[in-house]
Amino acid sequence: MAKKLWKLKKSKIHGSGLYATEDIPKGTRIIEYIGEKIRKKESLRRCLEWEEKARKSGEGLVYIFDLDKKWDLDGNVPDNPAKYINHSCEENCEAVNEEGRIFIYAKKSISKGQELYFDYGYSLEHFLDHPCRCGAEKCVGYIVAKSSRKKLKTILRKKAQKKAEKPKAKKKSAKKAKA
Ligand SMILES: C[S@@+](CC[C@H](N)C(=O)[O-])C[C@H]1O[C@@H](n2cnc3c(N)ncnc32)[C@H](O)[C@@H]1O
Ligand SMILES: [Zn+2]
Repeated sequence: MAKKLWKLKKSKIHGSGLYATEDIPKGTRIIEYIGEKIRKKESLRRCLEWEEKARKSGEGLVYIFDLDKKWDLDGNVPDNPAKYINHSCEENCEAVNEEGRIFIYAKKSISKGQELYFDYGYSLEHFLDHPCRCGAEKCVGYIVAKSSRKKLKTILRKKAQKKAEKPKAKKKSAKKAKA
């Protein structure tokens, strides 16, 4: 049996997280992300249910992994400690799908005591519902996939510009009204 390289501990980012119990070299397989294999239709139903709960409680915990076109993996089962791995914009782990099983690997060398993170890979849709508190220097403020972060930065820049321009537009119309 492979050596246990992690422990569960309170996280500064959110709730609990997994932490390295020793130095972990890059490329090491750390843990399997296990769960219940479910059809996409059931997966969508559960996601909507959680969204509804999140709207009421302000807290939404999503544990679903995309396996393939037909199947997803719901990691919200008691014997899946990997479900506690938090997201970071500067992740040190990656989730790899190996013939329908998900394994978490060290993406870089990880020092003893460091928290483990991977990229949750969320799409840009509803990004405002997923603020990121990873605290990384490169944090984009929301939990979105690495591939979408450049686009998100542009969206946020435009939003900020629009907000900054609004009061000016009001002042102009106020002047017109005086004249
Ligand atoms: C699969 S759980 C991760 C484990 C979680 N910390 C716990 O104690 O249950 C996923 C949830 O953790 C929270 N989370 C994970 N990474 C986060 C981050 N970088 N910033 C803010 N919340 C995060 C979000 O609420 C997300 O829906
Ligand atoms: Zn972040």
